[in-house]
Amino acid sequence: MLRIYRVNPINPEEEVIREASEYLRGGGLVAFPTETVYGLGADTFNPEACLRVFRAKGRPPDNPLIIHVASPEELNRVARDVPEFVWDVVRRAWPGPLTLILPKSSDVPREATGGRDTVAVRSPAHPVALSLIKYSGVPIAAPSANKSGRPSPTLAEHVIEDYEGDDVDMVILDAGPTFFGVESTIVDVTRNPPVLLRPGPFTLEELRVLFNTEIKVPEFARGLGEADAALAPGMKYRHYAPRTKLVVVECGDYAGLLKLIRDVVEDEARGGLKVALLLTRETREALSDLVTGVPVIEMGLRSNPYTIASRLFDSLRSLDRLNVDLGIAEGIEERGIGLAIMNRLRKASGFSIIKC
Ligand code: TXA
Ligand code: MG
Repeated sequence: MLRIYRVNPINPEEEVIREASEYLRGGGLVAFPTETVYGLGADTFNPEACLRVFRAKGRPPDNPLIIHVASPEELNRVARDVPEFVWDVVRRAWPGPLTLILPKSSDVPREATGGRDTVAVRSPAHPVALSLIKYSGVPIAAPSANKSGRPSPTLAEHVIEDYEGDDVDMVILDAGPTFFGVESTIVDVTRNPPVLLRPGPFTLEELRVLFNTEIKVPEFARGLGEADAALAPGMKYRHYAPRTKLVVVECGDYAGLLKLIRDVVEDEARGGLKVALLLTRETREALSDLVTGVPVIEMGLRSNPYTIASRLFDSLRSLDRLNVDLGIAEGIEERGIGLAIMNRLRKASGFSIIKC
């Protein structure tokens, strides 16, 4: 059964948080908002509870969870041999959307880390998440709260959509939309130089300043091709995917991009396919003659990619409600949070990318 509680995102009600934390300490699952996406949380130190997360999501057992702590000092509870530069980084960056890979403490069960000797850890910048961790008194192991393979949930409604009808018990803390809308940045700091495993709201430009070193960016972190499983266990799985087939249209030059979208829509429509478009507001306006009769999902503003990030997964879920054969998504620049957006879009398309 899903038990849903409304909670104030800025000043979470103590009674609700207390009840949810007791449920979690008893081995139960609690879906909760973070500044990135909703997580599906369990007591990190309870192996049975961790396994329950994998079962509920249908997540492959070798794809480890992220451990959420209340403060930088708590890093010691889940990681060992933390180098001085990492302490310095977390003191400056947490709470925030930055997950670090470190050697795991023996207190963390192998169930939580998919059998690996390393652990992914972060401290989330959301009052509800922080308060839940503090009341629970344990670090919370939580992947994104979607069913495996589905777009991550940025609203409690997405969590409900994925699990209603399932034989699963969970408490859902509904605090409305999450803030950023894409999952945290993941950096492997056991390697030198540190390796970006997943781009996120903590941008590459910011990471370079924070670490004051070179950061390695593998092709898969840009959403181009399959990941090296030894480095990034979760990245080999199909991700974020709407059920509808999706292609991403990319071009560095904006006039070229508009022309390419026009050509792709006309080609596909001529081939008899029912198409829908995922466009920024600017592009929707620029193509207003083309889009009459073609359903458009507005992704946000090209001039402010944060608006695109916050709606991205909801846009992908909306596509499935339109009953079309093909979604055609506009690509944006890979700068700032744009890198995270393009990584998710390319993966969601199964790497179906059309370039000018
Ligand atoms: O923003 C977020 O990170 C959200 C919220 C809930 O905190 N969580 C999240 O978890 O997105 P999710 O579903 O992406 O799963 C954790 C990711 C997977 O891609 C997994 O492969 C990677 O973290 N990961 C976990 N432990 C790892 C490890 N030891 N080495 C490499 N990657 C790891
Ligand atoms: Mg996920």
